Amino acid sequence: MSGFEHYLGDCQNRIEQYLERHLHNELPQLERLYTAMRYSVLGGGKRIRPVLTYAGCAAFGVADGPVDAAAGAVELIHAYSLIHDDLPAMDDDELRRGKPTCHRAFDEATAILAGDALQALAFEWISQASHWQADTRLRMTSLLASAAGPQGMVGGQAVDLGAVGQQLDQRQLQDMHQRKTGALIRASVLLGALASERASEQQLAALGQYADCIGLAFQVQDDILDVEGQTEVLGKSHGADAARGKPTFPALLGLDGAHQLARSLCDQAISAVDSFGDQALRLRQLAKYIIERQF
Ligand code: IPE
Ligand code: IPE
Ligand code: MG
Ligand code: MG
Ligand code: MG
Repeated sequence: MSGFEHYLGDCQNRIEQYLERHLHNELPQLERLYTAMRYSVLGGGKRIRPVLTYAGCAAFGVADGPVDAAAGAVELIHAYSLIHDDLPAMDDDELRRGKPTCHRAFDEATAILAGDALQALAFEWISQASHWQADTRLRMTSLLASAAGPQGMVGGQAVDLGAVGQQLDQRQLQDMHQRKTGALIRASVLLGALASERASEQQLAALGQYADCIGLAFQVQDDILDVEGQTEVLGKSHGADAARGKPTFPALLGLDGAHQLARSLCDQAISAVDSFGDQALRLRQLAKYIIERQF
């Protein structure tokens, strides 16, 4: 295993344990809700957003800093977005992370509520993490809310649903992808930086540039894998975008053009963190991982 694979595995174990420990309930009347929340959050997924939060913090020399609450919060928002994305009213998918989607395993109402609950819990975790200064927590809360809300992920999802069967040009497609996926990835990196409580505004701006590039690249690769990947490897149904008439980068630029765009975004991301030197090693490796991953 390479050093990076070890790093990824360690971060994945770290966040898994944190999520496992913090998603518990003792009230029998809430058991079904919590079972659905735990079903969707635990034991699956690449955990790329928490890993980016850890790596964002490590860029400030704080490799093992108290960043878990932020890494966990971002994964909760992501898990909620996936539960709702899979609902019949949205992408109507039956497979997620190799298992039946939440509404299939439980029921639609439980899936909607599990998503709602995870979203609120994310903000609880950050706002109540008393090891950060109050103004750090406020800034993190505000950053995550903007990334998740109508100008960010939810806005992107709204554009996505409105664009079914339509032709978007490259600028419109990029805007949609940046919102629906890029915004939360950007927040993941910046939350790590804020958690270090050492980042200057200039450094945050450089990381923001890095994160914008990898955030868009992440969704470009997701679109590519929808065409090139296999259901068993992806853990979600291959070919779902074309079947539903979603505008995607492979549909707009062809597969070669989409791969080229992903590579160019990865190069731009790596250049953006030049000034961090060795401390950005993991961020550079993550940029490559995002466009080389097969699931
Ligand atoms: C899938 O995200 C949805 C998108 C935003 C493209 P991931 O590919 O990170 O899904 P998991 O968390 O690994 O399952
Ligand atoms: C989902 O995009 C983005 C969010 C969940 C916000 P997709 O619809 O392409 O994600 P997958 O392919 O179902 O994972
Ligand atoms: Mg979708
Ligand atoms: Mg989907
Ligand atoms: Mg997709």
